[in-house]
Amino acid sequence: MAGCGSGSSCDSGSCGSVDAKIAQQDMAISSSLDRIKNKVLVMSGKGGVGKSTVSVNMALGLANRGYKVGLMDVDLHGPDVCRMLNLTSRLMDADVKKDGLLPPMQVGENLKVISLEYMMEDRDAPVIWRGPMKVQAIRQFIADMDWGDLDYLIIDAPPGTGDEPLTVAQTISDACAVVVTTPQQVALADVRKSLNFCKQLEMDVVGIVENMSGFVCPKCSETVEIFKSGGGQEIADDFNLRFLGKVPLDPRVVIGGDDGTPFLSSDSDSPATKAFQGVVSMVEQVLSKKKVELPMADMGSSCGCGGKCNPDTCDC
Ligand SMILES: Nc1ncnc2c1ncn2[C@@H]1O[C@H](COP(=O)(O)OP(=O)(O)O)[C@@H](O)[C@H]1O
Ligand SMILES: [Mg+2]
Ligand SMILES: [Zn+2]
Repeated sequence: MAGCGSGSSCDSGSCGSVDAKIAQQDMAISSSLDRIKNKVLVMSGKGGVGKSTVSVNMALGLANRGYKVGLMDVDLHGPDVCRMLNLTSRLMDADVKKDGLLPPMQVGENLKVISLEYMMEDRDAPVIWRGPMKVQAIRQFIADMDWGDLDYLIIDAPPGTGDEPLTVAQTISDACAVVVTTPQQVALADVRKSLNFCKQLEMDVVGIVENMSGFVCPKCSETVEIFKSGGGQEIADDFNLRFLGKVPLDPRVVIGGDDGTPFLSSDSDSPATKAFQGVVSMVEQVLSKKKVELPMADMGSSCGCGGKCNPDTCDC
């Protein structure tokens, strides 16, 4: 544009070099995402239903099964992942190679974690950002971080259908969603909004988790239904989606979340641990099936007739 030499680094922000930077970042995003097999956005209509708990336990559960896993906390205003995993390191203290990708935090051998708190000097400072800054932060989480080859990237979102899940959906075109709800009608009403968001953005839904479903008595370990139960299954049926399982309320989950020792890192044989394991197994199963289906769809598009058929058997 006016006054700007071609290919120069213009500071005005109004010339083609801004587009060039975006294009460069788009390329970095693609090359990061190309090395990640499954991207799972954990979302819900309401806050406090257990998205972060499910994200952290799912990421740990998959990592414990030997998968390479990334956990990306895009709840920029209320990041909880570091506290839940007791991660205190700072990017500024990390060994960063000049012009290289930035190292995420590491949990054990298989889990890489990124959260805004990792980048902040003062973790208690509020993040006061408008939409475009949030979009940029999430794009940088993908473009600038050294995720390497991953089997799963679990993305912990804030509640609702705002900038953060929208950015994830628009930036990661093959992301799919796990939707978390609690059993009550009020939470379920909001879940419908999340599911309609997925529909509108053509994002596949892996399934629905009903968290805080019943209460595990600390004395006898029996599960008592305090709130209603079964709403998650109902909504899954309504939307023709998979139900991934019910996770009961268990005081040990809260303690684990507060202490930074998530539940699945314990050896407990409680109903909540088993339920989390069940959810992890379902997610693993569903996504491995999806991978089998994908090559078939690709195969169809290469057929001379242009249809979704097998070129070896089509008589076009
Ligand atoms: N199944 C559960 N049993 C007991 N407490 C739970 C359970 N799931 C989540 N919590 C607790 O509820 C609170 C909110 O959960 P969190 O995962 O932060 O929700 P969200 O990310 O949806 O806001 C946390 O203190 C967490 O430890
Ligand atoms: Mg959360
Ligand atoms: Zn009891």
